[in-house]
Amino acid sequence: MVDLKKYGIEMWEEDKIVSFRHKLLAWYDEHKRDLPWRRTSNPYHIWISEIMLQQTRVDTVIPYYERFLKWFPTVAELAQAPEDKLLKAWEGLGYYSRARNLQKAAKTIMTEYAGEMPTTFQELKKLPGIGEYTAAAIASIVYKEEIPALDGNLLRIFARLTSYPKVVLEPEGKKLAFSYFQEKMQGIDPGDFNQALMDLGSGVCLPKGEIACNSCPLKAFCSSAKAGNPSDYPKLPEKKKRKVEQYSIFLIRHQEEL
Ligand code: ADE
Repeated sequence: MVDLKKYGIEMWEEDKIVSFRHKLLAWYDEHKRDLPWRRTSNPYHIWISEIMLQQTRVDTVIPYYERFLKWFPTVAELAQAPEDKLLKAWEGLGYYSRARNLQKAAKTIMTEYAGEMPTTFQELKKLPGIGEYTAAAIASIVYKEEIPALDGNLLRIFARLTSYPKVVLEPEGKKLAFSYFQEKMQGIDPGDFNQALMDLGSGVCLPKGEIACNSCPLKAFCSSAKAGNPSDYPKLPEKKKRKVEQYSIFLIRHQEEL
């Protein structure tokens, strides 16, 4: 695990970490969004939901998710689906490469994994269309692996909790956020932990506008809330200055074209 103190991030005693976990999960129990993929532990269903959610809002995804599973109820049926039906199921969601990758991955699961979804973060990442975030989401929700699913929500929450002074989107920021949350999810349901932070990020610790610190279960643990400046985080990369370039242009005109 990374030594967070070396980076100026406060180290907590175990009882503070336990209290953080408890507050977050108690809040999630009470406030979690009732979403269809939260009523299942079927890895195929959760995989489909996470792919759809990569670039599409929750409300839009719900009817697509339900229809997709009606049309292609198993990995085997997805692997054999005719392309026109597959693309029809995706019509309106955009980013069609997601659908094509789903089918490619389904074929790989049939041929290389005897029709069973791989069960670890490392193996999931090898499938087409499954990157770090999606592998972490599936591995934590279905297989209870203690891997933070670092999306924009988790990175923003980390930056505010710690008043992270640098750009959290840089590799170092991501490494620290990963370590920070991994420490806090030990011994509890990591899927609930990740999804609690996703819900906190989409309903309370909002990217801009009104940040609802008074409804936040983590307020007492939050460095930027204490300092009264959560909207100063996350720090954004400096915009590149526009380069001004000077050119000389010569125009040659031919008499007959005038
Ligand atoms: N966005 C991506 N994955 C999600 C999930 N499991 N629940 C809610 N929003 C999400």
